[in-house]
Amino acid sequence: MSSQYPWPAMRGIAYGGDYTPEQWPRETWLEDVALMREAGVNLVSVGIFSWALLETSEGVFDFAWLDELLDLLHDHGIAVDLGTPTASPPAWFFAGHPDARVVTRDGTVMGFGARGMASHSSAAYRVAIVRIASALAERYAEHPAVVLWHVHNEYGVPVGEDYSDQSAAAFRTWLREKYATLDALNAAWGTTFWGQRYGEWDHVGVPAAAPSVVNPSQRLDFARFTDHQLRQCFIAERDAIRAHASQPITTNFMANQSWTTDMWAWAREVDIVSDDHYLWAADPEGEIGLAIAADLSRSVGGGKPWILMEHSTSAVNWQPRNIAKRPGEMARNSVTHLARGADAILFFQWRASRFGAEKFHSAMIPHAGTESRVWREVVALGAALDRLDEIRGSRVVADVAILWDFESFWAQDLEWRPSVDVSHAERIRAYYERLWRDGITVDFALPGQDLSAYKLVIAPAQYMLSAADAANLDRYVAGGGTLVVSFFSAIVDENDAVHPGGFVAPLRDTLGLVVEEFLPLREGSQCRLRWSHDGATATLAGDAWQEDLVLSGAEIVATYVDGPGAAKAAVTRHRRGDGAGWYVSTRLDAEGLGILMSAVYADAGVAPAGHPDGVEVVVRRGEHADYVVAINHGDDAATIAATGVELLSGQPVEGSIDVAGGGVAVIRTDEGGGR
Ligand code: GAL
Repeated sequence: MSSQYPWPAMRGIAYGGDYTPEQWPRETWLEDVALMREAGVNLVSVGIFSWALLETSEGVFDFAWLDELLDLLHDHGIAVDLGTPTASPPAWFFAGHPDARVVTRDGTVMGFGARGMASHSSAAYRVAIVRIASALAERYAEHPAVVLWHVHNEYGVPVGEDYSDQSAAAFRTWLREKYATLDALNAAWGTTFWGQRYGEWDHVGVPAAAPSVVNPSQRLDFARFTDHQLRQCFIAERDAIRAHASQPITTNFMANQSWTTDMWAWAREVDIVSDDHYLWAADPEGEIGLAIAADLSRSVGGGKPWILMEHSTSAVNWQPRNIAKRPGEMARNSVTHLARGADAILFFQWRASRFGAEKFHSAMIPHAGTESRVWREVVALGAALDRLDEIRGSRVVADVAILWDFESFWAQDLEWRPSVDVSHAERIRAYYERLWRDGITVDFALPGQDLSAYKLVIAPAQYMLSAADAANLDRYVAGGGTLVVSFFSAIVDENDAVHPGGFVAPLRDTLGLVVEEFLPLREGSQCRLRWSHDGATATLAGDAWQEDLVLSGAEIVATYVDGPGAAKAAVTRHRRGDGAGWYVSTRLDAEGLGILMSAVYADAGVAPAGHPDGVEVVVRRGEHADYVVAINHGDDAATIAATGVELLSGQPVEGSIDVAGGGVAVIRTDEGGGR
């Protein structure tokens, strides 16, 4: 990612969504642009699924409709994020290249009639994506409407892994580059186990379904290979566009809703991070998952403003129960993304499709038309964002980081782990949620990056930890940092092999302990811990997991009362250099995490914000002022301390402001800025 932040050449906060006029007659286009102006829409994404309409047969292009569309949008002052349609190749492509179809792990060859790219390793697909991306870029590089390029759609879904013959050949090439010799591959994969030793490169294959559990090191490398191949497809298109066009180029990520791509690596390849986020309807506090996605999007981009490329005005159509958003919820969601660093609020999609698989998905113009709650809220949100223009470019600053490492998640998710109850997503959410409730803003970070700016670093799930990354965490603590490590971390190296010296050995000096044995609990069984720290005592509850710890310097903060670890250490703190390493060997419940984290905050010098329950407050720091963004998820009005001007109402704020139940407020404060 370039250091100069190449925000699209347009005013203010971007507002709009995916636009699919190819599904509608011309008279609707005219109505659309008029309604876009009414709603304050200033950016739409077009062409994302239009390959069959733009290239009607191999090498035969029809740009007439897109010419007309871009001119129409430009004439109405609406900028364009121009998509490349490569997430959905046309029927003619698959008919001409049947071997480009994706093969699943169990050998099923994917058919046509849905969407989904071809094999990431198909030579024919690579040629075809470069041809269409080049043709689009050549034609529209200078079009005044185009301010941004949107390559593909959500790499990794619905097509990620491919077990086809061309993928197997490409996997071998990738492995030869990584390992150089078969001996090195055999050693890294531990192929002496179950007699898997390879004597010929040609015998190395993709980890297709097999009689039992396939070598986890091979599967981990296959996950890395898949991510790499998908990224090469992106890079091929990006470079084809860049040969003609100078606008910034992005591709829409899926933050915490897809695990197939390593967002940290992808963020280095795009000019601007963009993300799609959909609330998980079954989660009554979906706003917490939303905040995780937003913080992750900001973090992978190094803190720069990012684009919320898609979210929904109301219900989606692909969950078991698609819950409509309640009045005000769309605005709260949008302002939360903005608070956490987004400078663009876009939706899937502008106008609800009458036909096709997504006809029950909400849109900015629902099937009910403009005489609807959703439309009125869309218009109101456009007006609100217009008042928040000056926030653009300001930054979010966090004192606390949570480690988020996709490669570790890929490894942890493989089969035959000690307990199905151990989940990285669950633990990250649990710790994040505690900080969210305490009003503490969080960045996500990699274990190997410079962490010295953070007062507190939490590792809720760092199953895989290389020796180098462990040394980095140790330096962080010795230099004065406070580190919290949760159980089932620092277990394996980058090949999914257990560390010499046993579990947690690379962090032995940092934490003052190792783990002798895992003690997973039976389904549903709970355990109690006796907490005793800084003169305070309490009984805490955990479940799922205990460990048998061997201490080498750590002080005991909590002891197991019952369970297989009864009377042994459960939570510890170790002084290391100028800092401290905390270790938590069970799955504490929310209350227990509250007690733990209060002690950790005190140790790290981090202060909870003390906002009323259910009120989310995040500060964006501008050059001249701080912006306090408050989102009230509760039903009752809540009071927030601030002084300055509330930008949505234009009213002065003297000392405090009441934020209505379900409402939002954005205060430009008299303090801050320029730091
Ligand atoms: C996204 C996708 C969109 C649309 C949306 C529906 O994942 O990028 O094209 O399908 O989901 O929620």
